Amino acid sequence: MPATIINGAAVAKTIRQEIAAEVAAIKERHGLIPGLATILVGEDPASQSYVAAKNKTAHALGIHSEQMTLPATTSEEDLLRLVEQCNRNPAIHGILVQLPLPRHIDEPKVLFAIDPAKDVDGFHPVNAGKMMLGQRCFLPCTPNGILELLQRTGVETSGAEVVVVGRSNIVGKPIANLMLQKRPGGNATVTICHTRTRDMAAHTRRADILIVAAGVARMIKADQIKQGAVVIDVGVNRVGQSATGKAVLAGDVDFDDVLDKASAITPVPGGVGPMTITMLMQNTLQAAKQAAGLM
Ligand code: GUN
Repeated sequence: MPATIINGAAVAKTIRQEIAAEVAAIKERHGLIPGLATILVGEDPASQSYVAAKNKTAHALGIHSEQMTLPATTSEEDLLRLVEQCNRNPAIHGILVQLPLPRHIDEPKVLFAIDPAKDVDGFHPVNAGKMMLGQRCFLPCTPNGILELLQRTGVETSGAEVVVVGRSNIVGKPIANLMLQKRPGGNATVTICHTRTRDMAAHTRRADILIVAAGVARMIKADQIKQGAVVIDVGVNRVGQSATGKAVLAGDVDFDDVLDKASAITPVPGGVGPMTITMLMQNTLQAAKQAAGLM
C-alpha cells in the first residue's frame, strides 16, 4: 500500500485559521496588532521567495509585517543598527533576519543582537539554551512545525527510533533535541547522522521516524529506509525550471522511490514548508501577547 501523504499545507491552513481568529480577537479586545520585521540582506532568489511568502502570510492573517531589504554590500554595523532599531520599536514584536547572510557578516553576532523576547526564529542563544533545557521559549519554526505535523498526524514518538539526517543549527540539532525531551511529542531514541557518519544507511534503516534535512536532492532511496517508516522530508532543492520559469523543487528524499515502502511521508512542496511559515506566525502572535502581558 502506498504511504499516506502528510498534507502539511492542509494542517498549516487549519492552524493559520486559528491564528487569524486570535489575531482578530486581540485586536478587537486590546487594540493589539502583532508586528513582524523581516530583514533580507542581498538578492539570493530562494531567500527572496521565502521572505515574500512570510510577509504574504503575515498580511493574510492580520499581522503587521515590514520587510526591510538591504543590499548584499551592507556592512555588519548597518545591519546591527537596523536590528537595534527593531528591538526598540514597540510596533514590532518579532524580528526575523533571513539566513544565510553574506559572508562578510558575522551571523552569530547578528543573531545575538536580536532581543530574545522578539526572537521569533528561536535562533538566539538564550532561546536555543532554554529549548535544550526544556524551558518555555520561542521554538525554531521548522522543528516546531515537524513536531506539530507528527502530533496532528497521530504519529507516536515515545520510544520510537528517530534518525535525523543533517546537523544544522536551524533544523537537525534542534529537532533531535526536541524529540529527545521528556514530554508528549518527545521521548524518542534519537540518532543524528551527518557528512562524517560512517554507514548512514545502517542508521536510517533502523528509523521508525526518519527526518531528512541534508540539502541534497533525492539522496534517500527506498533501500535506505525501513518498511513502514514515517518519513519527514525537510529538503527544498531547486532541480530545474518549468516552462513558465518557476523553480522545480525536489526534497532530500526520492519521493517516488520510497512511496510504497514508507507508511507516511511529507511531500515537497506542501509538506514541512507551509508549517515553517505557520509556526513563525504563531511565534509572532506569542511575542505580541507576551509583550502586552497577555500571557
Ligand atoms: N533560512 C532558512 N531557514 C530559515 C529560517 O527558518 N529562518 C531564517 N531566518 N532564515 C532561514
